[in-house]
Amino acid sequence: MLDSPLALGSLTLPNRALLAPLAGVTDAPFRRICQEMGAGLTYVEMLSAVALLIRNRRTLEMLARHPDEDVLGVQVTGPDPERVFAAVRALDEAGFDTIDLNMGCPVRKVVGSGLGSALLKDTARLEEIVAAARAATKRPLSVKIRLGFAAASINVEANSAAIARAGADMLTIHGRTREDTYAVRVSLPGIAAGVTAARAVNPRIVAIGNGDVMAAADARRMVSATGCDGVMVSRGALGNPWIFRTLAGRGEESPTVAEWEQTVLRHLDYHAEHYGNTELAARLSRKHLLWYASGFPHVHQLREVCNTVASMDEARRVVSDFARTLPADLRRGESRARGADADPKYQMDRALDRGVGAEDSCDA
Ligand SMILES: Cc1cc2nc3c(=O)[nH]c(=O)nc-3n(C[C@H](O)[C@H](O)[C@H](O)COP(=O)(O)O)c2cc1C
Repeated sequence: MLDSPLALGSLTLPNRALLAPLAGVTDAPFRRICQEMGAGLTYVEMLSAVALLIRNRRTLEMLARHPDEDVLGVQVTGPDPERVFAAVRALDEAGFDTIDLNMGCPVRKVVGSGLGSALLKDTARLEEIVAAARAATKRPLSVKIRLGFAAASINVEANSAAIARAGADMLTIHGRTREDTYAVRVSLPGIAAGVTAARAVNPRIVAIGNGDVMAAADARRMVSATGCDGVMVSRGALGNPWIFRTLAGRGEESPTVAEWEQTVLRHLDYHAEHYGNTELAARLSRKHLLWYASGFPHVHQLREVCNTVASMDEARRVVSDFARTLPADLRRGESRARGADADPKYQMDRALDRGVGAEDSCDA
């Protein structure tokens, strides 16, 4: 079901497995890798409407699109209808194929500026902001929300209905509140309630479920328990673009050592093409290497060296040297799913509080 096409306004996505916008992660190199593996849609990470409108240099750099990215979405968060209108108009004119409004980011400094999940608190204002974005573009418009700000103020039904009323083409619901850490399991009934409320207003709205999709089985569970039209993959894609290969019906979820090496090296090539063959580029690649380094025997040794790579050549050498220690047809194991202690992506809460990679995009 997830491998069937999905109509989103004027776009037809090849399948229903989307890569989330991820601050500090979904740059052009990673997006290209996920797209090649089969991701139905990819996004530039969350941008601040204010930073965009004052033409902040780092924000403008984040708009860079590779020629291979035929279809590309972008996400923005803004404090009021006027600035959201102006930012969405600018992103429309910049040629992005679809625009998403972030109303779920939990990072303290974002929320403190009245952005991201702070917008969930006032449904009437949220509706005005979505309506302003709707007036600014004819391109497919979507909104990403959480269940509510806190457990005591869950308002996913009211907000979902408001988003549908304001004319959004798609709604993505992350089944946690702003106060929940990743230790809290995503609430599938919470997502289902939002999907039902949005469809009661607009039966054609595209509903996407998000949260805890770490493997294809989680995606199928999300669809059957919530009735959503597709899934957005977040932490489940870190170091694991192969999740899209499976969701797109193109192959196995676990890569062999040979496939792993080939893909990681290609990612490093795209990374060097984008950032240059520099020490900074190597440092930026470390987090991806650490995420790729899971699920094979002896990865702790690989992790240690990934943490210190100082050139792109060294990064490539580390990957190939590691691959040579294992049989080429060995498949990545299940320890990925079990390894909450070993796998760095399960320890994201601390990183989120520091606002991973979103420093410039969110502070305005
Ligand atoms: C490093 C990181 C960066 C993120 N950046 C964004 C972002 O820019 N925009 C967004 O809507 N969500 C962002 N998120 C939230 C995810 O898209 C997603 O909603 C959340 O992680 C729940 O999904 P999961 O449990 O499958 O990871 C980020 C999450 C992480 C871990």
